[in-house]
Amino acid sequence: MTNYLKEPRLLHGGDYNPDQWLDYPDILAKDLELMKESHTNTFSLGIFAWSALEPTEGEFHFEWLDKIMDDLHQQGCRVILATPSGARPAWMSQKYPEVLRTNAARQKMLHGGRHNHCFSSPIYREKVAIINKKLAERYGEHPALLMWHISNEYGGDCHCEYCQENFRSWLQKKYGSLKALNDAWWGPFWSHAFSEWSQIASPSPLGETAVHGMNLDWRRFVTDQTIDFFEHEISDIRKLTPDIPITTNFMADTMDLIPFQALDYEKFAKHVDILSWDCYPAWHNDWELTDDLASKVGFIDDLYRSLKQQPFLIMESTPSGVNWHPVNKTKRPGVHLLSSMQHIAHGSDSNLYFQWRKSRGSSEKFHGAVVDHDNRSDNRVFQEVREVGSAMEKIQAVKGSYKDAKVAILYDWDNSWALDDAQGFAQRTKRYSQTCQEHYRYFWNHDIPVEVVTPNANLSKYDLVVAPMLYLITEKSIQHLSDYVQAGGHLVSTYMTGIVNENDLVYLNGWPDKLQEIFGIEIEETDTYYPSDKNTLVFDNRSFTVKDYASLIKRGNARALAYYQEDFYAGRAAITVNHYGKGEAYFIAPRTDADFLEAFYQELVSKYDLSNSFVLVGDPSVSVQSRDRNGRPTFFVMNFSETTKTIQVRNETVDLLTEKPIGKEIHLSPYEVLILEVK
Ligand code: GAL
Repeated sequence: MTNYLKEPRLLHGGDYNPDQWLDYPDILAKDLELMKESHTNTFSLGIFAWSALEPTEGEFHFEWLDKIMDDLHQQGCRVILATPSGARPAWMSQKYPEVLRTNAARQKMLHGGRHNHCFSSPIYREKVAIINKKLAERYGEHPALLMWHISNEYGGDCHCEYCQENFRSWLQKKYGSLKALNDAWWGPFWSHAFSEWSQIASPSPLGETAVHGMNLDWRRFVTDQTIDFFEHEISDIRKLTPDIPITTNFMADTMDLIPFQALDYEKFAKHVDILSWDCYPAWHNDWELTDDLASKVGFIDDLYRSLKQQPFLIMESTPSGVNWHPVNKTKRPGVHLLSSMQHIAHGSDSNLYFQWRKSRGSSEKFHGAVVDHDNRSDNRVFQEVREVGSAMEKIQAVKGSYKDAKVAILYDWDNSWALDDAQGFAQRTKRYSQTCQEHYRYFWNHDIPVEVVTPNANLSKYDLVVAPMLYLITEKSIQHLSDYVQAGGHLVSTYMTGIVNENDLVYLNGWPDKLQEIFGIEIEETDTYYPSDKNTLVFDNRSFTVKDYASLIKRGNARALAYYQEDFYAGRAAITVNHYGKGEAYFIAPRTDADFLEAFYQELVSKYDLSNSFVLVGDPSVSVQSRDRNGRPTFFVMNFSETTKTIQVRNETVDLLTEKPIGKEIHLSPYEVLILEVK
């Protein structure tokens, strides 16, 4: 890592695909010129370059890459060098069809597209090992090499015979005996108990989808198998270049901007040196406000930062629009600087783009890029990229600094998968990730830093832990929460918590005893609502809407803070608090709108003294985040709205971009961002 840590600059640049332009020397020369002009300094090379590197089996061409690496180095740029496994050349699929994926319906896929190789295929692993080793041997000592970019956006699954075999071995290792597996999967249900390991096959629309324990294990296996493939990819690279950090680009789930669902990133994060992710929000869409979208971006940034408790990288973003949203709107003037600074404010040490230059052909020819088909620098998009680059130069001292938080929101992939699978309750309104983001929203609105961590994280540093909808929770996690509260922590939980264990088997004999102790309540039933159904609760003499979910609780030692007002459970407690050990545990029994969360968390924030210490009077659309360099904060003040805003802060500051002094009243134009330090 030393090499990377010594790099003083925040990384600005992105995916550079010169292999698409090898027959256009004037374009390649122009690239170097424009790179200088754009204040970029880092490029990811070779992500999809396998057919340029090895056009036929065993025939390798590195000269073009040598030249690009040298050229970039000469002008002071760094390289994030990719292994090319994200897309393979046609000769390989033709000669070794086993490298192609088999889908859940057991159809062998054809050659084409990308991100579609089998993670188990011995041949694919062999071919990947060969090319990766050659790259590490050839470029390991290259002065431009900053980091390894392993493959691209790992995801998806394969159901071929190799994968089935690996799945069965994984299960054997996990369960030891078929009896244990049948117990965990509730085998006798619909006569689904197995008498031989060889009878087990992955979930499929043509076969098994109803065994929830199996679905969950399949998802876990897919994560483990992907990581296994990743570890295979990096084994020689680690040996040959132990000092060069390794990353692979994580994702969010498409336009919803919820955490990526296909892989458990908590597990994966442990295997990368630096976590990076690709972020493509649909700015200016017609279904949500700019600040609604910005807070979702903040949530994922906070989750991915917290997974490794260190700064992360934005590996891909676009300076204008993408090509895969239904409408690919370009960013309005100013939004590129604003959205880039948002990531840095949340802990990113980069702003990298897909891609440097727009392709001339194929499906991504209209995807936003730094250099457009016009090949010029005097257009708006290029100039805004330049502006971001020079802003990043001015604030580069924040690189490597972290941001701490006293509030944690718990997020868990196993839980998300199990809840998604659960049949019953209300199918369309489960919205686990979105619910976490709705709770997060209060803290974002009030500029209170948050870490988004998993139930396994060390919770002792937090003053408040919010754990919405932990439907799947292990006994170990329950104990963990109990220890946290007993030691003086403050915990908030909600409806749909503590229902199944790690095998998706329902806890018997009522709500788990330990949860009853922590919260001082029992859960008797969970009611679900049609969209037109509403109830109300009264909290602090104000009435709030109840929707979607309502747990009916029986109070033990807990004190009621609010009661349901209608239906057969009118008068029963809806919100409770329980003193437990040295701490307090709150339970929100129904789902509410944001106005209740606002009132509820406001009380907790003042009770536990969690407000932002810089902001005196904030605004929900103005987000203030900070990064802390040894006790010296840099504040990012960001207006995610289309109107002028004013906020009040406690200190006078200096604007790091303009060096102008800023008073205690800060005025922001639409989409404006200020980066400030106390004088
Ligand atoms: C990413 C991918 C890039 C590019 C980009 C377009 O998912 O890694 O290669 O396709 O999307 O938005």
